[in-house]
Amino acid sequence: MDPYINEWLNLVIRFAHLITGIAWIGASFYFVWLDNHLENPPQWKADKGIGGDLWAIHGGGFYEVAKYKLAPEKMPTTLHWFKWEAYTTWITGFLLLSLMFYVGAESYLIDKRVAVLTQFQAIALGLGSIVVGVGSYEVLVRTKLREHGVILGVILIVIGTALSYGLTQVFSARGAYMHMGAIIGTIMAGNVFFGIMPSQRALVKAVEEGAVPDPAYGLNAKLRSTHNTYTTLPVIFIMISNHYPMTYNHSANWLVLIAIILITAAVRQYFVLRHFGKQKPMVLVGSVVATIILAFAIAPRATEFTAEQKRQTVNIAKVQAIIEQRCASCHSATPTDDVFTIAPAGVVFNDMTSIEQWAPRIKARVIDAKDMPFMNKTQMTEQERELLAIWIANNS
Ligand code: HEC
Repeated sequence: MDPYINEWLNLVIRFAHLITGIAWIGASFYFVWLDNHLENPPQWKADKGIGGDLWAIHGGGFYEVAKYKLAPEKMPTTLHWFKWEAYTTWITGFLLLSLMFYVGAESYLIDKRVAVLTQFQAIALGLGSIVVGVGSYEVLVRTKLREHGVILGVILIVIGTALSYGLTQVFSARGAYMHMGAIIGTIMAGNVFFGIMPSQRALVKAVEEGAVPDPAYGLNAKLRSTHNTYTTLPVIFIMISNHYPMTYNHSANWLVLIAIILITAAVRQYFVLRHFGKQKPMVLVGSVVATIILAFAIAPRATEFTAEQKRQTVNIAKVQAIIEQRCASCHSATPTDDVFTIAPAGVVFNDMTSIEQWAPRIKARVIDAKDMPFMNKTQMTEQERELLAIWIANNS
């Protein structure tokens, strides 16, 4: 595909994914908040079967919200379902995953330093991991375990950790992270499709037929939407994770991801508890402390230049030649790379001034983290990294 057309498709789909995702998560946050703020209704409302009462002001208007214990006597003419937010987020997410990591598998998903895969193998593994992840959840949530939230949670974390590890052993680090995101996102959309919608349809049908709805339907939908509550923050982190190489490029990146999933789920728990009027600041403090510990634990060991490196010198022309050969195919005003047709991150090395300007980041990416050149596409040698290290040692 023409890289320029690919870029535009990427922009349009990502934009749509972001907007639909905001709509879905926004609605999810709102309804969790709503549920947790309902108060006992006055008697005349209780007599109508209303179990929760809430007043709000927004955008210059008063809103009176009532939640029925079970269902209204008569179906209203218009009933809003909030399902397309979830479905369109999943559809746009799947399109984006396919465009970037499957159409562009050679650049983004396959990292030959991790595993030598063909495009077909990589896509099969990617889709397979989603089926396994979502399948395990769908099986477990249908068993008795559904009534034991904590045990179910622990089992799911163990499976998630295994998947996270497995994915990082076959894919590029970014590809592995994004597949974890795809698995969690698909579980969430599946909760709507396989759990919440059928339960709600059954509820509506019962009301329409004038029957007393089985409370099990409401409870089933509630359980699945509670699960979604705890996966929202982890999945949002994964969406933005590709901007943070310190997470996905770490040698234990699979564990880093699980740690961040647990921390962000705990943050969500703090807000859920707070809605109920339960102030548990320690949950939030614990998350912050855990984040700081994680940050220290994964800090890249900044290479201390040796006396030897400081003593040696390297010709400027040599430095320029290395950058020209190994970086400029992407980082120039007119890149020649087949995928990156515009200088990534706006980093352009066109002369010695710009190279010097970026020296601290060149050290971070080429010498400390060693994750530039991107997937070592231009096959930079250790010796060349050493020469750049000597040059930076002399100039810092
Ligand atoms: C195949 C294309 C490609 C090549 C070759 C390449 N890069 Fe990059 N570079 C990228 C991409 C994509 C990004 C943005 C994503 C990221 O930061 O991981 C980037 C981002 C950067 C950044 C900015 C992000 C930051 O951490 O500040 C720096 C600096 C950088 N590269 C340095 C280099 C150097 C130095 C080389 C040569 C040794 C090089 N790159 C070779 C693709 C490339």
